[in-house]
Amino acid sequence: MQGSANLNLMIKAARRAARSLVKDFREVENLQVSTKGPGDFVTKADQEAERLIREELMTARPTYGWLGEETGSTAGADPTRRWIVDPLDGTTNFLHGMPHWAISIALEHKGEIVSAVVYDAAKDEMFWAEKGSGAWLNDSRRIRVSGRRHMIEGVFATGVPFAAKKTLPATLQDLARLMPTCAGVRRWGSASLDLAYVAAGRFDGYWERELNLWDFAAGLLLVKEAGGMVEGLREGTDAMESGAMIAGNEALFSTFAKTIRG
Ligand code: IPD
Ligand code: CA
Ligand code: CA
Repeated sequence: MQGSANLNLMIKAARRAARSLVKDFREVENLQVSTKGPGDFVTKADQEAERLIREELMTARPTYGWLGEETGSTAGADPTRRWIVDPLDGTTNFLHGMPHWAISIALEHKGEIVSAVVYDAAKDEMFWAEKGSGAWLNDSRRIRVSGRRHMIEGVFATGVPFAAKKTLPATLQDLARLMPTCAGVRRWGSASLDLAYVAAGRFDGYWERELNLWDFAAGLLLVKEAGGMVEGLREGTDAMESGAMIAGNEALFSTFAKTIRG
């Protein structure tokens, strides 16, 4: 693995949290049948994973800032660099004993994501990227977005807002426009892995509304470094600022974006 010192540190932190989460995940699978359910247990697993990542990263780089889903934001002595962490992306899957969740760690420098790690611990797939150095899977596999050129061959991913979220009707309308034009749509419950799968050419595109920076910061760099495109969901908006985005391969992007934007 030819990454920078920061990337190696991020990978070390992700593996440390993964050991703890994988152990907890086995327990969750057992708790499915209990009447109390695994809810509180998962909250603790999530918090412990963030604690481990934070300890690893902040001990090595004490001047960097921090943004983590569980512990919020802390300014650093170095205002130009910040870790952006989701210790468990795909909580609902984890809670239901489904092995599709990830640890997402990004490093931001002067407002731009420069290093990214998305680790699918259950399948031992480490997706990583550094600005200008491409996107990679595990030790040595370079990944690229898909080469598909026809919507009808494309498989797309999204997150469907749950329960009473106000963006649900808009997503259902997107689905009504997109589904008749393509080979399939998946809603797998982990935004960071959805983006990693676009980077790896597994999904041909992805869109979602109302994301938090920790959900997609790392995945965004993976897609860009794999040769893909990312834009804000509304034309002319910025994905990082709005938290609503469309990502995909270059050949399909304009048709895909037109379909989603309606
Ligand atoms: C969620 C997942 C999901 C996406 C949601 C996120 P969490 O993150 O990424 O795929 O649709 O918008 O909040 O809660 O599992 O960390
Ligand atoms: Ca998340
Ligand atoms: Ca999370």
